Amino acid sequence: MSQVSSRIPGFYNLPIEERRRILRLAADLSQDDLRALDGGGLDTEGADRLVENAVGVYALPLGIGLNFKVNGHDVLVPMAVEEPSVIAAASNAARMVREGGGFTAEADDAVMTAQIEIVGVEDPAAAKARLEAATDELLALAHATLPRLTDRGGGARALEVRTLPERIILHVHIDCRDAMGANLVNTVAEALADRVAGIAGGRSGLRILTNLCDRRCVRVGARVPERALAAEGFDGAAVREGIVAASRFAEDDPYRAATHNKGIMNGVDAVVIATGNDWRGVEAGAHAFAAADGRYRPLATWRAEGGDLVGRLEMPLAVGTVGGTLHAHAGARLALRLLGVTDARALATVVGSAGLASNLAALRALATEGIQRGHMSLHRRSSQPVPVLEPAAQGGRT
Ligand code: MEV
Repeated sequence: MSQVSSRIPGFYNLPIEERRRILRLAADLSQDDLRALDGGGLDTEGADRLVENAVGVYALPLGIGLNFKVNGHDVLVPMAVEEPSVIAAASNAARMVREGGGFTAEADDAVMTAQIEIVGVEDPAAAKARLEAATDELLALAHATLPRLTDRGGGARALEVRTLPERIILHVHIDCRDAMGANLVNTVAEALADRVAGIAGGRSGLRILTNLCDRRCVRVGARVPERALAAEGFDGAAVREGIVAASRFAEDDPYRAATHNKGIMNGVDAVVIATGNDWRGVEAGAHAFAAADGRYRPLATWRAEGGDLVGRLEMPLAVGTVGGTLHAHAGARLALRLLGVTDARALATVVGSAGLASNLAALRALATEGIQRGHMSLHRRSSQPVPVLEPAAQGGRT
C-alpha cells in the first residue's frame, strides 16, 4: 500500500487540479495517467470491446476516501459513487477510527466455489459416497483444466457433496489467487460436469459458480475512542450508546438490517466499482450471507468495550486485482495504482474497511442529529458547493 499519509486536511477545499497534483505525488503517477480520468477511464472503443450494442459510456463521479489506515498502512481510497455525502462521511468516520489506531482487517484466501448439479440420481447416498471416493481424481481433473492458475499457487482445494431434494450438488472450492474468479470457476464446473454425472449415475444440470462465496470472507475491526465520537450537542458517550442501540435495532429487525447493510454497501460498492470489480456479485454474496442462518442480519455490529466503541464487519468479498474489466478500463487500473494494493486479499481489506466506515458514519448521524441534517451538512462542510439535493431526494435513495 501507499507510503504517503491519507490524512490530507483541506483536500475538499482544493481545486480539482490541485487534488490531482497531490495524487500524482502520492502514487507516483504522471499527468497522462490522470488524464485517463477525464473520460471516465473508458472511451467509446473500449466500451464497444467490453459489451454488446454499445452506444457510449455512462459516467460516475470518482472521489478519494481520506484518513484511512488499514492494518497500519495509510491508504487513499478511490470511490466511484453518485450519492452525495458518501465519500465525505466515510472519510469522516475513517478519521475517527484512525484515532483508535485504524482498521484491522484480514481476508480469507480467494476461494470461490463451483456448483455442479446432478439430476436423475437413483440412490443419492451411494452417489455421494462414490463422488467422495473420487475426490483425488476430480481435483486432478480440475488442476489440469487450469494449469496457469495452479502454476500461480492457486487451484482446486476441496470437494463437497450436498444432497438436495431431487438433485445432488458437487461443490468444487477453488483458490483463484488475485482474480475475482468467475471465469476460472465456471470453466472448472463445465470441464468436470460429465465425469461427475458419470460417477454419480445421473445427468449434469447447471454448472456455475455460487456468489455466496462464504469461504472468501473479509473481517474488519474498528475501535473508536469515546472522545472521537462527540458531535454537536452530543458527548462521546451518548453517541457511543446511540450507535450500539442502532446496531441492536438492526440485529433484532430485518427491516432495519436491510438499510443498515445498504449503508455498508455505500462504501463497499464505491470501491468495488472504482476498481473495476463485479459489484452485482459482491451484492448477491453480501445479502445471501446476511440471511445465511435463515434470518436477515446486519453485516456489521457495534458494541461498547472499555469506554470505546468497537465495530466488527464480516462479509464475503469476491474482488480481484487481475483480469476482468482491468484490461479495458484505464480508470480501474489507475484506482488500483492509487490504492497501491498488489493482491486481491489486500484489496478486500480496504473494501471492507470502506464498508465499516460508511456504516459508522451513517449510524453516528442517525444517533445524533438525523440523517438529513447530518449527512447533508457533512456534505456541505466537506465539499465545494454542488447542486444540493432536496432532503426528499436524499431520502428517496435510501
Ligand atoms: C443512505 O444511503 C444509507 C443510510 O440509510 C444507512 C443507514 O440507515 O444505516 C443512511
